[in-house]
Amino acid sequence: MTKQNVYIETYGCQMNEYDSEILAGILTKSEKYNIIHQPEGADYILINTCSVRENAEITIYNRLNHLKQYKKSKKNLVVGIIGCMAERMRKDIFSKSELVKIVIGPDEYRLAPDILQNSMAGNSAIAVRLSRVETYEDIQPLRKEGISAWLAIMRGCNHFCSYCIVPYTRGRERSRSVRSILQEIEQLQNDGFKEVTLLGQNVNSYFDQDEKINFPQLLRRVAKAVANMRIRYVTSHPLDMSDELIDTMNEFDNICNYIHLPFQSGSNRILNLMNRGYTREHYLERISKIQTTLNEFSLSTDIIAGFPTETDEDHNQTLELMQDVQFDGAFMFKYSPREGTKAYKMIDDIPEEVKVQRLNEIIELQNKISKEKNKLEIGKIYEVLVEKPSKKKPQEWMGRTKLNKVVIFDNTDEKYQTGDLVNVTIKRSNSATLIGDVAV
Ligand code: 5AD
Ligand code: SF4
Repeated sequence: MTKQNVYIETYGCQMNEYDSEILAGILTKSEKYNIIHQPEGADYILINTCSVRENAEITIYNRLNHLKQYKKSKKNLVVGIIGCMAERMRKDIFSKSELVKIVIGPDEYRLAPDILQNSMAGNSAIAVRLSRVETYEDIQPLRKEGISAWLAIMRGCNHFCSYCIVPYTRGRERSRSVRSILQEIEQLQNDGFKEVTLLGQNVNSYFDQDEKINFPQLLRRVAKAVANMRIRYVTSHPLDMSDELIDTMNEFDNICNYIHLPFQSGSNRILNLMNRGYTREHYLERISKIQTTLNEFSLSTDIIAGFPTETDEDHNQTLELMQDVQFDGAFMFKYSPREGTKAYKMIDDIPEEVKVQRLNEIIELQNKISKEKNKLEIGKIYEVLVEKPSKKKPQEWMGRTKLNKVVIFDNTDEKYQTGDLVNVTIKRSNSATLIGDVAV
């Protein structure tokens, strides 16, 4: 039987990138499908989607419109929506776009080989059950070639922040076994990967029920097992940012001291309405523990502007917290009401222009802070893991420091290869990147 071609296009977070690799692994293992990397020539186009904000979903609908051209030139092309939007919209997607014949939620990828096959006859199919146990721990993901791998150690979320759709689209928290994680990471090392990022919606609430192993204990095991690999993790919740975790980071050189710790709002009143479960004082106390424990570290965060009832005073407290902490980077968003969440029942009372203005103030302040912080890097020498040519000039390559800063350096004649570690002296910087020369 000739294999059929599947093209998977991924939107949204790193977890989605990883899930696409899991799905690709499942499809290839069934020996009925080839994964291809462009839509041309595809028998199936599957779009792995994000629902976290309305804009993410609008992007998908626009993409579906655009994909109509492929259907014109290939009558039996099947298009599927998978991931969070599939879970949220369920069968309603079929009426939103006649192109879509397949809908598969994040916990149902094992059914994909059969669903794809059945859909060829023109039938539509839907699988959106959420699971309390699915972790795909026995599935070998089909990873892109490279030096850096994703590895989901837990899935789902139990926090139910009032604005967030994730607990509904990805279900409850569940963790993979320590054993399966260690096995896979050792394999990654043997396959030449230099870096692994442990993923989870709340990665630091990881817990292996059978072995009674928490996240810091897992990190310790991983750090020892693959001493030559850089280990990263995202995303952390401030409530689970324990002393034990911060101390463990300090103990091992190969655990990168980069912490992504969303604070969302600087106002206690808004944090309470968001159901975040902590106060600004708790958040700042955790930051202070990080600052006093780790010699060198970098911090990034997520911020939401214009949550219902947010006043200028609340907003100013967000700006103040940013000033106090001096984050290295931030992902900044306008509040977007999501149907089915608790906050959706509140009136979305902050006018669009006020949301935009507050968001712009937040972005402007963060850019200023990032620029100033990066200026302080000039003259320092950093160990950079070489990744690939930069987008602008092919002789300039990019890599990352342990602290996750992007560094651009000259690599004429490709003296340095992907996966090499080089020392770079920083000569210039802007708000997003450091630019330097390899020290010889
Ligand atoms: N509106 C705006 N931003 C949101 N996020 C999650 N839900 C929403 C929403 N409804 C942001 C949070 C989260 C990040 C992944 O996306 O900041 O940390
Ligand atoms: Fe969403 Fe909150 Fe869970 Fe993060 S912790 S995924 S923001 S519900």
